[in-house]
Amino acid sequence: MPRFSDEFLQELRARCDIEQIISGYVQLRRRGKNLVGLCPFHNEKTPSFTVYPENQSYYCFGCGAGGEVINFIRRIENLDYVEAVRFLCDRAGIMMPLDGADDSMALKRRRIYEMNREAARFFHDTLLSPAGEAGLNYYKSRGYSKRTITKFGLGYAPNSWNALRDHLREKGYSYEEQFEANLLQRSVKSDRTSYYDNFRGRVIVPIIDVRGNVVAFGGRVLDDSKPKYINTADTPVYKKSLGVFGLNFAKNSKEKTLILVEGYMDAISLHQAGFDNAIACLGTALTGEMARLLMRYADEVLLCYDADEAGQKATQKAIAIFSSIGAKQRVIRLSGGKDPDEILRKYGPERFRSLIEGASNEIEFKLLRARDGLDLHTDDGRLKYLNLAAEVLADVNNAIAVDIYVSRLSEKLEVDKQAILSRLELIRKRKRSQSRKAAFQTVQKSFSADAGRAAAAGSSLRGRKAQKRVLTLLCGNPDFLPELRSRQAETLFDDPLCRRIYEVLAARIESGGSLDFTALSGELSREEMDLLVGECQKDKALPGSRQELHDCIETLQSEKKKQQSKNTQASALEGDDFRALFRPNDKK
Ligand code: UTP
Ligand code: MN
Repeated sequence: MPRFSDEFLQELRARCDIEQIISGYVQLRRRGKNLVGLCPFHNEKTPSFTVYPENQSYYCFGCGAGGEVINFIRRIENLDYVEAVRFLCDRAGIMMPLDGADDSMALKRRRIYEMNREAARFFHDTLLSPAGEAGLNYYKSRGYSKRTITKFGLGYAPNSWNALRDHLREKGYSYEEQFEANLLQRSVKSDRTSYYDNFRGRVIVPIIDVRGNVVAFGGRVLDDSKPKYINTADTPVYKKSLGVFGLNFAKNSKEKTLILVEGYMDAISLHQAGFDNAIACLGTALTGEMARLLMRYADEVLLCYDADEAGQKATQKAIAIFSSIGAKQRVIRLSGGKDPDEILRKYGPERFRSLIEGASNEIEFKLLRARDGLDLHTDDGRLKYLNLAAEVLADVNNAIAVDIYVSRLSEKLEVDKQAILSRLELIRKRKRSQSRKAAFQTVQKSFSADAGRAAAAGSSLRGRKAQKRVLTLLCGNPDFLPELRSRQAETLFDDPLCRRIYEVLAARIESGGSLDFTALSGELSREEMDLLVGECQKDKALPGSRQELHDCIETLQSEKKKQQSKNTQASALEGDDFRALFRPNDKK
């Protein structure tokens, strides 16, 4: 377990004020002693993410994410514990102690980065060798220049089961390591395990992160066979849902925008044509976390998904996500080709530039979508369009914008402006009541999820409540520990999460360590931290007495007895069933 001294962690905590750090990622508003904002870890419209300067912690009432500053950085930057500490040290200008930190995870990641770089070199060298002829011809057929191939380090994986495997082995990387980097596939048959290359007979595109590390690969077939693309799955250095192609170049672009396209081949073509702010996301679904990451590098995003129906649906989803984080956005509607690559090849860069200039804002995009397939020359078509358009405008908060679009609509459809406005008000009312209902359901759902977990662990809600309360009591009163020890409290926890937290707390108290969240952050998993911080926030107002501790222990003991008698009943029942099986035989 990685461990830094409490003194060091205290200093880190003092120098990395949580309010300041989180403000770099989330817009916070003051609410009383605390600050609130939109949670960066799930999508929400009303803020349930709270920062508590008082004890330097945060907690989201929507998704249950909670912790302190180190664990916040781990989550948002996707780093492991030691890397997050290093990140904060760099920021605050403090020296990170070299000893005391178990760097095994960081070491493993460094190995994978080096191995990936080596693999990228291998693929690139192969492409330029006689063995890469097919690959080179493919790139040529797509119009990729020599310069593009070098710039992006494009490569070719020979059609072989072991070319890369043996090359990397020679460089000192074991099969297991290569497997962990998802460069090899594994096949386990009764008595032997074999490994073989994951990428075979494909052109290879290395995925490079903003820091310049090769984190993953994409491989495309040369013909029409399936699957068209294979991509690296999640590894210790790569989370596909946060994978972006091209950001290492786009972040240095003079443009203040990012062009977001569906495929990395599109992004490459755009760069070659001079659009050096193009990027492609690799995750199947865009998330708020991803969107937030992108908006650190630009003021505005230009959505440029494929022209097909799937691309348009994806655009609508992306708009919702970028709006939810307050990002500026416009939509490029492609015409004359299915994707940017095709348009560039058919008409050249000028055409694409004019498409960018004609990009519509999100309201215009939605209004255009609403009009798709409707004939505005008929009353029926106009009425349908009016209703759909009103649905779109009802979500717009900017009164001036609404007024402009309503005026335009009224002119275009020859409908009284006032009629449209009252229709809008009606829709808004309906939406407000729907969102109230939804909020209520969320609360209900989280309550029943809690009950579900309790049931899975075999414990009652009453028992779980008592277990959690013991934890917060102990946090506030470390001197309660001897009492808990003497009653063998560890045997009373039937929720594995609670038991783990109890053991960590107890061990720290016994070794004289601090119980503040920053100190605990290195020893508790995310899930454990969420639970503990959440409970502590909820129970903060409660003082906690020895009497209450006794009550909790009593509850846990009686719950345990109940559980035991239930179990014996259950096994007795099984016995009965067992006999029932033999009954027909009895008759004989
Ligand atoms: P497209 O099928 O739109 O790719 O998939 P494309 O860029 O137009 O491909 P070309 O021009 O035929 O070469 C877009 C993205 O979806 C993912 C890839 O990330 C691709 O870049 N994808 C697609 C896969 O992961 N697997 C597939 O089989 C297909
Ligand atoms: Mn394409």
